[in-house]
Amino acid sequence: MNPEGEFLWKSSPSRYIARMSSVTGREVLRPIDPDELLIQAHRDKNPLEVTAQFLASRLIQVTGNEDSVRDAMKKINALGTRMAGKLGQMTGSKAVERGARQVIGVVDREFFFQFREATRLSEREVKARIVRLRDDARAALAARGRNPKLRVLLTGATGFLGQEILAQAASDRRIAEVVSVIRPQTVRDPKTKEVVRVLSPSDRGLLLLSRIGIGGRAARKFRFIDGDIEKPFLGIGEKDLAALEKTVTHVIHCAASVSFDDTYESSFRANVVGAKNALAFSLRLQRAKGSRFILHVAIETSYIHGRKKRSMAQESALVFPKNFYNNFYELTKAMASMETDQHMVVDGLRVVQLLPAIVIGDSRTGNNRGDTKVVNAPVNAFGRAKEALDALKSTPFGESKAAAIASVAMVFPADRSAELNLITVDRVVEGILASLTRPEAIGERVHLATDNRIRTEDIIKVEKEELGVDVRLTDPTLFRNVTLPLITTILRKANEPRLASALEKLGTIFGGYGEWGQPIHSVGNDVRVLGLPLRRPNTLYAFRMLCRHNKLVQEFGKVKDPDEIARRERVWAEALARIEKESGRQAASLEAEEFRRRIGEILDLKSFEPK
Ligand SMILES: NC(=O)c1ccc[n+]([C@@H]2O[C@H](COP(=O)([O-])OP(=O)(O)OC[C@H]3O[C@@H](n4cnc5c(N)ncnc54)[C@H](OP(=O)(O)O)[C@@H]3O)[C@@H](O)[C@H]2O)c1
Repeated sequence: MNPEGEFLWKSSPSRYIARMSSVTGREVLRPIDPDELLIQAHRDKNPLEVTAQFLASRLIQVTGNEDSVRDAMKKINALGTRMAGKLGQMTGSKAVERGARQVIGVVDREFFFQFREATRLSEREVKARIVRLRDDARAALAARGRNPKLRVLLTGATGFLGQEILAQAASDRRIAEVVSVIRPQTVRDPKTKEVVRVLSPSDRGLLLLSRIGIGGRAARKFRFIDGDIEKPFLGIGEKDLAALEKTVTHVIHCAASVSFDDTYESSFRANVVGAKNALAFSLRLQRAKGSRFILHVAIETSYIHGRKKRSMAQESALVFPKNFYNNFYELTKAMASMETDQHMVVDGLRVVQLLPAIVIGDSRTGNNRGDTKVVNAPVNAFGRAKEALDALKSTPFGESKAAAIASVAMVFPADRSAELNLITVDRVVEGILASLTRPEAIGERVHLATDNRIRTEDIIKVEKEELGVDVRLTDPTLFRNVTLPLITTILRKANEPRLASALEKLGTIFGGYGEWGQPIHSVGNDVRVLGLPLRRPNTLYAFRMLCRHNKLVQEFGKVKDPDEIARRERVWAEALARIEKESGRQAASLEAEEFRRRIGEILDLKSFEPK
């Protein structure tokens, strides 16, 4: 088999997921196309279904009761299935039944998907194995004494979470060394796209440390080596490998591709192949002669539970989501989690699985080290659109043109009641570092999520107060099927192709997270197993700080130079500390107006220097 053919075979979803017949209960041996596992694959199939979804969404707004509306939809679906079945019986034709189902718009129930088991071992045997792994980790940790001098190998150090790991590790007395595996970076001219220079891993490491503010003695803890997670043993050279086998106590695998619009193949390479390489690397360390290895920490996401309309996503179970996945990122992270189970149960790797929800900036300051992904993307897009519209208003006929553009551009496809699970980066990394000395976390999936979720209506309200942005929520089903195609056609005809594709991207990439019926990620293991404080960060406060930070520090993503971002974040943190001292209150608790006044008194917001 050629390498491409081999990759296709190895990356087939059928290796992880089985298609089961609803009639016989047996597996249907038909290969699964990755697209079949996304929400898009089984909805919006005909006008009746679109109308039903739309009506359900309206009913939820009116009644405020998702559960009863969902039950009613189920009943209508069952009635439709019975009617189609009757028609099939009367005509004696399966084809007629299938046609009727399609016309009525009922969900095809001929098959369903389920995850394959990681092992055929009995539950009792699996439990016994996990107990042994915990005991082994406990013994390996105890052997290091009261000052364990942990030596951690980290992937993803240059990313959003990775940088926070470096920052917190700098002052963590348990940690003696952090070896970060990073790849070289090609720096291009933003305009011409020509290669300006290539930064080696150690160049990147030094820059990182200075931006994070780690210097002097603390900096000696950190080392940066060349590697690539998509290569066997993380692409680390044999000489380095041999040395690491004798020293490393933990591997934190944090690198991934966190992109909601990546293809299946590229998500699979980064998230599944990358995870497998990291797991195999740890297994090698664990089995090496004279090994010091204690445990592997796999960073996953609570969205591996995909879309399960409002049902609880348990920490203890991974079940194929009834309403499938929003994107290939979620799907491939779920596959990576299954690989992790397999390595633990079958190969005996000591591993902890940590599942952050949607991660946002620091709980006190909103600082995010220049991250522009996930929730930052729509916040920044609306902030920039508002600035552009304000500028347009001062031009001839600008006022009416701005109003016309705002009416189509400042909309977001989401139900008011949709709940988002946002968690701050400081809390997530506290969980990651806590897990290093918690052998009892082996064999657990731990949600690093919140128990105080916010709704899209809260988000819209805070955005209005903090950014002056007036975003109108629009029904997601109607938006996907009617409004978006219409708007993008109009905008393209009006010579606004960039705005058209920005809207298209925003709607298709983030729309799924704004619909009613989001899963609820149960929490508890963060406190029970990792020993984190019971009080989780206040999400509304954290989102308020995200808006303030992204507007003033990041200028909605326009400040791109990482050194300038680092400088601004330092100035910002100091300014907030001063505000908190003077007001005697947490900055996030101040009303928008008061915060604006106070920050304006302390900082020159143009130069971003203290006054
Ligand atoms: N951000 C969130 O909201 C969120 C939520 C839940 C879970 N998570 C999980 O948390 C982890 C970190 O996310 P993040 O937000 O920090 O991501 P990020 O900012 O996009 O960083 C990704 C990191 O992975 C590295 N990487 C990617 N491909 C690599 C390769 N082939 N070889 C070596 N390094 C590679 C990147 O290195 P380069 O700098 O070289 O590109 C970067 O350091 C991921 O596992 C993600 O799934 C994130």
